[in-house]
Amino acid sequence: MAKPRVITVLSQKGGAGKSTLTMQLAGGLARSGRKVAIIDLDPQETALRWAQSAVEGFPAQVSRLNVPPEGLHAFVKQVARSADMVLLDCPPSIEHAATLAALQEADVALVPVVPSPADLWSTKGVERLILQVQASRKGLKAALVPNRVVRTNLAWDVLEVMRDFTLPVLGAALSQRNAFAQSAVIGGTVYQLGRAGAEAAREVDKLVMEVLKLTGEKV
Ligand SMILES: Nc1ncnc2c1ncn2[C@@H]1O[C@H](COP(=O)(O)OP(=O)(O)OP(=O)(O)O)[C@@H](O)[C@H]1O
Ligand SMILES: [Mg+2]
Repeated sequence: MAKPRVITVLSQKGGAGKSTLTMQLAGGLARSGRKVAIIDLDPQETALRWAQSAVEGFPAQVSRLNVPPEGLHAFVKQVARSADMVLLDCPPSIEHAATLAALQEADVALVPVVPSPADLWSTKGVERLILQVQASRKGLKAALVPNRVVRTNLAWDVLEVMRDFTLPVLGAALSQRNAFAQSAVIGGTVYQLGRAGAEAAREVDKLVMEVLKLTGEKV
């Protein structure tokens, strides 16, 4: 069996979409037949509560890191025994010890970025941190994922600015959609919303393809 891949979702700014990205990506990867596990590193326990409120059961196993961040490596190893993919949902700070530990574990780091000036500024700090880690660990792949994209000129201008980052920007952006917020309410993913989630599901499908390419997995 191939070695399980670890995907760390981090951002400096609160509300950028880390938990949304983690949960939807988990849903998409599960649909591709992979066994997915999520480790919730955020004291807010968003991912854990999300899965616990699942009416139909969540398609990934979610656990809360119940040891100090120094114990993350062993915790990931344990969880990875029964998973093909392990997703780490980080707290909203890159100074948080858990975020740094999660980055050290990552095969792929994903940074959701809302195309607004404040988000872009705070993303510069995340990028610096990732580039530092990459300097000593060449195998770490990383990308920015535009989130809450609104198809207005302003948003497109900001996406242009995002292209100034050193890290690649995924073509698979998530738009601002009710379906993403609605998924959290039902404790599920956009795949469970039928027609109301169809366009959002297409975006997540594309995201899954791009993330699998980053992990080096067969698509
Ligand atoms: N693409 C989107 N479309 C609509 N709503 C979204 C989208 N992405 C995120 N949201 C909403 O924005 C809020 C914040 O999202 P989320 O909890 O995923 O961010 P976060 O980065 O995990 O936050 P925190 O830093 O607090 O952990 C939630 O209410 C979520 O439903
Ligand atoms: Mg969160």
